[in-house]
Amino acid sequence: MTDSKTAYAGPQRVLSGVQPSGDLHLGNYLGALVKFVALQDQMECLYCVVDLHAITTWQEPKRLTAQTREIAAAYLAAGVDPKKAAIFAQSAVPAHAELAWIFQCVARLGWLDRMTQFKEKSGKHKERASVGLYTYPVLQAADILVYKATHVPVGEDQKQHLELTRDIAAKFNHDFDAPDFFPLTQPVIEGPGARVMSLRDGTAKMSKSDPSDQSRINLTDDADAIAAKIRKAKTDPEPLPEALDGLAGRPEADNLVGIFAALSGRTKAEVLAEFAGQGFGRFKPALAELLTARLAPVTAEMRRLLADPAQIDRVLADGAERARAVAEPILAETKRIVGFWPG
Ligand code: TYM
Repeated sequence: MTDSKTAYAGPQRVLSGVQPSGDLHLGNYLGALVKFVALQDQMECLYCVVDLHAITTWQEPKRLTAQTREIAAAYLAAGVDPKKAAIFAQSAVPAHAELAWIFQCVARLGWLDRMTQFKEKSGKHKERASVGLYTYPVLQAADILVYKATHVPVGEDQKQHLELTRDIAAKFNHDFDAPDFFPLTQPVIEGPGARVMSLRDGTAKMSKSDPSDQSRINLTDDADAIAAKIRKAKTDPEPLPEALDGLAGRPEADNLVGIFAALSGRTKAEVLAEFAGQGFGRFKPALAELLTARLAPVTAEMRRLLADPAQIDRVLADGAERARAVAEPILAETKRIVGFWPG
């Protein structure tokens, strides 16, 4: 069902989103935001703040509004240009939720039962999880396909949701005899920042839900906090190897080299060529310096933008209008294909 061959002939278009459910961290920045910026000069881009997804777990209402503005500010501060890319709140474009209902009737229970993120997030008491948390990936498919997006920049943790999106598109196209109506969307994942790991455990993903703040670099951390977290980051006693295969079995070393590579726009091999034979006593300060140099301007710009929420609201309102203009005709055509009145 996930045949990559497609005759889809529509325009190339990018859609992605971030949940307004906590502070952004380095994983979000490298896995998503940096790619958002790179793609905006290549094709039409739409970047939403996925507030509908956020409420699949409890969000304090006032905090949700504030965090939606914060994520929009982070997009802008990272370098997304609102003239090039539409920046908007997902809830401001009702077509997402409407298409999600249609897709709930296309997706199969068995497909959702396989989603690992639901298992991780619902924990031991899945009967207490919201129904929305279970159908979450279907809404994500609707976010993407309501724009017929062909490319979705995300971190590696979203791979399974992107596969489901393709399965839903293929089944819709097949069931309704509408060949190539929805594209089989490509994830844009590759690169050393695709899976940033915890600073405390190189086998666990860096995540906002990790109870230890030491495990992640937040976009709001200042230079001192960054230096302290990198100094304390778990490593091993060996010096850095000369080649990539020397990182095998050394997840923490691999992660720090990957972060350095992603931040400096180099490959891990190139970073090793510079630091081979050096211990972490040398490498860590260089990494902390690079992190501060890259993140401090983003943090400062976020603060500046958040001092003027009205300006952020103008960006979000304009983005929503542009997003609706793309989504509404696609939703209308989808409803016609499904057979909704008046046909
Ligand atoms: P969210 O809000 O959890 O994360 C936002 C983005 O950050 C990436 N990411 C990471 N990348 C590398 N290393 C990490 N440790 C790391 N942690 C997070 C995520 O892969 C994501 O790209 N389901 C999505 C939001 C969403 C969406 C969409 C994305 C809803 N609809 C449509 C794309 C298209 C999520 O929970 O992201």
